[in-house]
Amino acid sequence: MINSHIPVMLDEVKSFIPISKDLNLIDATFGGGGYSKAILEEFNIKNLIAIDRDPTAKVFFNELNKKFKNIELFNEKFSKIDELIKNSKFSKESFDVIIFDLGVSSNQIDNPDRGFSFQNEGPLDMKMGSSSLNAYEIINSFEEKKLADIFFQFGEERYSRKIAQNIIKNRIKKPIDSTKVLSDIIKKSVPHFNSKSKIHPATKTFQALRIYINDELNELKLALEKSQDLLAPNGLLIIVSFQSLEDRIVKDFFNHKSGKRWRSSRHLPDLGDLGPITLKIITKKPLRPKDFEIDNNPRSRSAKLRVAQKI
Ligand SMILES: C[S@@+](CC[C@H](N)C(=O)[O-])C[C@H]1O[C@@H](n2cnc3c(N)ncnc32)[C@H](O)[C@@H]1O
Repeated sequence: MINSHIPVMLDEVKSFIPISKDLNLIDATFGGGGYSKAILEEFNIKNLIAIDRDPTAKVFFNELNKKFKNIELFNEKFSKIDELIKNSKFSKESFDVIIFDLGVSSNQIDNPDRGFSFQNEGPLDMKMGSSSLNAYEIINSFEEKKLADIFFQFGEERYSRKIAQNIIKNRIKKPIDSTKVLSDIIKKSVPHFNSKSKIHPATKTFQALRIYINDELNELKLALEKSQDLLAPNGLLIIVSFQSLEDRIVKDFFNHKSGKRWRSSRHLPDLGDLGPITLKIITKKPLRPKDFEIDNNPRSRSAKLRVAQKI
């Protein structure tokens, strides 16, 4: 299997990793192993724990494992990060660096059989690992309001109601069974679609379905909370996110854990007791990819990198 994923903001990620000592590191989103490979080659690594819920990560892990023996893969969700470590031979270790590079890899998007992309004809799947529902089941069985809510909440899609309405109209005639059919329905639901627009009209709806199916926002919230407990003193939490819903969760988490009474929206309830201060924010503002990276790899364009340190 060819690894088509180009690691995003790799130089920036590496720039935070200490060079002086033997490190215990968790790559919580192993993907094609791009980060792990570069880190193993360039830093002193005692143990590298890789996590990925997608079974295909094993192929790339096995390749890396031929050269590096101090690595271990857990084919699991990263929300279980605490259990995975606790039940492993690393239970007594703490970690110097934990990295999350969120979302999907190019190996997932570019494989039409996975159904992540509206650019390729494929089945409506979008499962990263073993989720209970796939996109076909949702699109063909959820009621209109529920569909509209998903598109609005997880895709911030302003035409969510119209898209949901048209999905219902179409599926009565025939089940909606491919990414292409769904993407065409969305295109017809969005007024004045300008084909020169850089953003395809199905982008937000596909993003929403993917987030819902894989429960991505809850996964992130749970994993952040658990990861901070696994960090050694001065250990680093490095997060690369690709859309605003994820970035807001990371930003809120870092702010709360560093003692700020800050909320991403004044409509959210008061924060109450924030609990102990456990982190120091290292990146006051998120880092963004350089222009040349975006030119070479347009998929990096929405990336934001945030780093916090355990105190
Ligand atoms: C952007 S890719 C990571 C790419 C990787 N840094 C590289 O250089 O090849 C994100 C990966 O995280 C995995 N992933 C996303 N959410 C996850 C979760 N909740 N638990 C475990 N893995 C997850 C995906 O399956 C995907 O392989």
